This record gives sequence, structure tokens and C-alpha cells, in this order.
Amino acid sequence: MAVSAVVGLQWGDEAKGKIVDLLTDQFEIVVRYLGGNNAGHTVMFDGSTYKLSLLPAGILRPGVTSVIANGVVLNPKALLSELKSIKDQGVEPGNLLVSDRAHVIFPYHMAEEAILEKNRGEKAIGTTMRGIGTCYRDKIGRTHAIRVGDLYRPDHFRERLQEVVEYKNVILKALDPSAETVCADAIYDEYCGYAEQISGMVTDTTAFLHRALKDNKNMLFEGAQGSLLDIDHGTFPYVTSSNSSGCGIQAGSGVPSRVIDRMIGVVKSYTTRVGGGPCPTELHCEIGNHIRTEGNEFGTVTGRPRRCGWFDAVATSYGARVSGVDCIAVMLLDVLSKLDELKICEAYEIDGERTTDLPSQIQDLERAKPVYRTVPGWKKDITGVRRMEDFPKEARQYIDTVSELVERPVEFVSIGPDRDQTVIL
Ligand code: IMO
Ligand code: MG
Repeated sequence: MAVSAVVGLQWGDEAKGKIVDLLTDQFEIVVRYLGGNNAGHTVMFDGSTYKLSLLPAGILRPGVTSVIANGVVLNPKALLSELKSIKDQGVEPGNLLVSDRAHVIFPYHMAEEAILEKNRGEKAIGTTMRGIGTCYRDKIGRTHAIRVGDLYRPDHFRERLQEVVEYKNVILKALDPSAETVCADAIYDEYCGYAEQISGMVTDTTAFLHRALKDNKNMLFEGAQGSLLDIDHGTFPYVTSSNSSGCGIQAGSGVPSRVIDRMIGVVKSYTTRVGGGPCPTELHCEIGNHIRTEGNEFGTVTGRPRRCGWFDAVATSYGARVSGVDCIAVMLLDVLSKLDELKICEAYEIDGERTTDLPSQIQDLERAKPVYRTVPGWKKDITGVRRMEDFPKEARQYIDTVSELVERPVEFVSIGPDRDQTVIL
């Protein structure tokens, strides 16, 4: 039996979807355990591009069972529309299971988030507006939460929704007197409709996963977001509202992390960040624009241009330690191919002090000045490389430097979006 996990070590968008897709044929079960339709995972094969937000990438492989586990916040409307869109692209989705413990995203979550973000003005977190944080907030607060399992107990669901909606309307009006209120009856009818459509998928996924472990099934945990967006360990408060580092697997699936025998950390060969919050290596110059264009660094979910900069080994190695990864996958190396020289941030200088620790307070991270190591570029097209030894020596040096600073062996290098544009060590 093999149990593996793929997690992002930066601020998300590390191209985790490609690594998950590459590995899924070795696994019978692929599990999403956190986040919701804020994730944007692009998978390309046979000339087609699939954009997934909520569905595990396993959905594209026949014979794989995809699991949306308890730690995910589920927007059932988004789930159904994503399933429809892959069907429209000619893919017959594999088996899909949805946890009855997962919390449900309702229209008032989006409404509340829109007002909260607007009211923060300059200090907005820059969320994806998918109701993720507001749904997790209700989960942790307990008193106004509704789980997938509740949708199948009509009397209980109706009564609960009535209470919650009454409360939410008070909050919405208090936050913004011009806010539109929401209607419990309309939401009830809408969500009963979704519940009926997904009823065949809803189950106790924890019990399913435990049985699968007992039966020695191979299992892959598909991370969303990245370690630096982790609610506990990331660059708080500019984070997402769940444990998006490797720490989230156990809580988000009910599978003890001790059974995982391979944790793969996915990193981009540079840094990107969407939304607010400090990003010490961000480049506000031509090189930043060049990386954005070459890497097509625009959000899959929101279309926002991503902030781009040099590889930050301080932040990434912290992500690797927190997530406990065994090895790393270096993605999008080809994006750097046209640059004369490259920089890698190996330390921060904060108020004249050098450190390789990621500051715990955002105000300190805002003052961090990157200390760079400069390495030569390779200035060659590397998209056709398929073996490590065929890389130009400067590219190998770059990969080795990343590995040295993150203190993990590199086991995959991606040099293009397609499945086969991958060097596996
Ligand atoms: P994938 O899975 C990059 C960011 C948002 C925002 C912050 C909080 O594609 O790597 P949220 O809507 O989650 O409350 O927003 O987190 N964010 C991501 N950034 N990739 C993601 O997912 C992200 N999911 C959330 O931009 O800064
Ligand atoms: Mg994304």
C-alpha cells in the first residue's frame, strides 16, 4: 500500500494539479481535504485543458475514486457546475464521494465576505470571494454551521436554516445598511434541490477511507492552497481559513498522518502571490512583468494578475518544515529560461539582523529585505528536456541551489504544462 500527499509550499498556485494528475494513475483514491472552490487546479493532457476548483484531479482518471473529505467547505452549486463542465469537455467523471461532515457554503457566506472585504479597504485580505472564510468561521463558531449531512434531515435543516438566516440578515444589515437580505425559504428550496442531485455521492468518507486503508488501497492526498496560506502557520492574517499546509491532512480527512509514506512539496521556481499581504521577493519591475507573462500568472479562479518575484527559500523552506515534506517538485522552471541571471532569496535582513526564519508577525515580514544569491541563467529552451542530465549546467545548478536551501531532494522538475513535460528523478 502507498499513501502519498502533494502539498504546496508557497502561497498557492504551485501547479500542484499537474503533479497530482501525473501520480493519479498509481492511486485508487484521491482525496481533497481542505479549502473549497477557492482552489484553481489546471490539468492539461491530450491537448485539452481542465480547470478544477473543488473537484479532486482524480476525477479526470477513470477507475479512480475521488473524495471530498470532511475538511472541505462545499458549495454544492459549484460542485454540480464543475461536474457539468468536465462532462461537456467529454470526460466521464470517475466515482466521487462527498463527506456528510463537510460544511456547506450558502449565499450569505458570499454576501458577508463581500461586505467584510469592502469594509477593510486597503487592508482587504484579497480573498477569492467564494465564501470560504465566512463558512469556516461558522464551522469553528459551531452555532450557525450547517453540514452536508444536515441537508438530508428536512425538518431539522429547515428549522436550522431559519435560525441562521435570521441571524445573518441582522449581521448583513449591521455591516452595511444597504445590503440585500437573504431568504430562508428560497435557500431551503435551492439547497434541497442540490442535495437531491448529489445524494448518491454523500457518505461518511472517514469510514470509507479507513476501510480503504484496511484493504491496502493506494491513496493520494491532494493539497489546495499552500503552506504559507495556512491559518495557523502562514502569513496571518493574509492566509486562507484552513490548514493548507501538510498539517491539514489528518484533521481534514480523518486519516492519521502517520500512515503517509511520501509527502511531496510542490514549489514554483519563483514566487507568486495573489491577494494582499507581504511578499518579500516581489519584483515591481520589468522582470516581474516578464515572469508574469512567461508564466501566464493570472488567477485560475478570479483572473487576477499574480504578484511575481524571485524564489524565496526562507519562506519555502519554512513551508517544507511545517508540512514535513520528504522531497520537492520544482515547477515552471522553463518560465525563467530567457533571463540572464537569476536570484534566490537565501535569508532576510530585518532591522539589520540576518535571519533564515520566517517571522511570525506580519509587521516584521513587511520589513524583511531579501538577501539574494545570484546564479547565472541558462538562456536556452528547456521545454524538450526529459532527463536530468540533459539540462544545461546552469539549470542544474539552479535546481541544486533550490534543493540545498529548502533542504529536500528534488524529485520532479516541470518544464511545461503538459503531462509529459516533466523530468522525474
Ligand atoms: P490553489 O489551490 C493562490 C488566497 C487568496 C487570498 C487568500 C484568502 O490554486 O493553490 P480565501 O478565498 O481562501 O479566503 O482567500 O488566499 N488563495 C489562494 N491563492 N492559490 C490558491 O489556491 C488560493 N486559495 C486562496 O488569493 O489571498
Ligand atoms: Mg489558485
